[in-house]
Amino acid sequence: MVGPGIVEVQMLKQLMKKFRLIECTVVEPSGEQITSYKNLVEEQKDALNGVTFDWRQETIQEFCKANADGSKKFHFVSAIHSCYFIAKQDLDFYLNTLCEWTKGKILIMLGAETGCFNRLEKKFFGSTHPSKMLPRENSIRESFQSLGVSYETKVIPGECDITSCFESDSRVGKLLLDFLLQRVGCRDDGPPELLKVIKEFLKTEGISHIRNGRIYAAVPTHVIVASTSYGA
Ligand SMILES: C[S@@+](CC[C@H](N)C(=O)[O-])C[C@H]1O[C@@H](n2cnc3c(N)ncnc32)[C@H](O)[C@@H]1O
Repeated sequence: MVGPGIVEVQMLKQLMKKFRLIECTVVEPSGEQITSYKNLVEEQKDALNGVTFDWRQETIQEFCKANADGSKKFHFVSAIHSCYFIAKQDLDFYLNTLCEWTKGKILIMLGAETGCFNRLEKKFFGSTHPSKMLPRENSIRESFQSLGVSYETKVIPGECDITSCFESDSRVGKLLLDFLLQRVGCRDDGPPELLKVIKEFLKTEGISHIRNGRIYAAVPTHVIVASTSYGA
């Protein structure tokens, strides 16, 4: 669960200070992201000497199902900003599987409820929107609680430059609005009135702030670290 691997390579370098040999299983459904990660590993091969990679182009759900025989064992599992597309009702099963396989730590990081993106979603997306079915930080905590797994949590601050959302000819702004509203082409084809209200919302105090003439949305991250001992 990795994306292009930028954060993960940094983590591997830190782990290498303590462990000389590391076996790293990369579970990522996007071929494009795996290629980026592989390129990064190639660029930094000297620094990563001692790490062997097992590339799996699949979702974590597919990975858990394909290895249901329980032969997988890990000391550390990370899912950084990649736990968004698992249906809430499936969460217990996948977290349980990961806990069964891990004797060590499971690190999950995801956008905090108080952040701009989540608050935008809460305010403007209907109750039947697919995003409402996705897990949030509280669903993950509840899952760990029901599994009897101990965990620690922390919220770390973050921000995202959303100035381009207000620049009518910006390509980045168009893509960022598509991402925020989860609809392709919303700037050019969406209802102009709704877009106006959303842009006003994005400028609301507490949602964003202006610094040096640029607009930054608050996007704090929730960090959850669970300690596991093959399920316990
Ligand atoms: C925002 S990127 C995270 C990148 C990186 N971890 C970081 O924080 O910079 C999210 C990645 O999670 C992957 N992803 C989404 N759903 C997933 C799932 N169910 N199983 C595994 N990976 C998933 C996506 O393909 C994407 O590459």
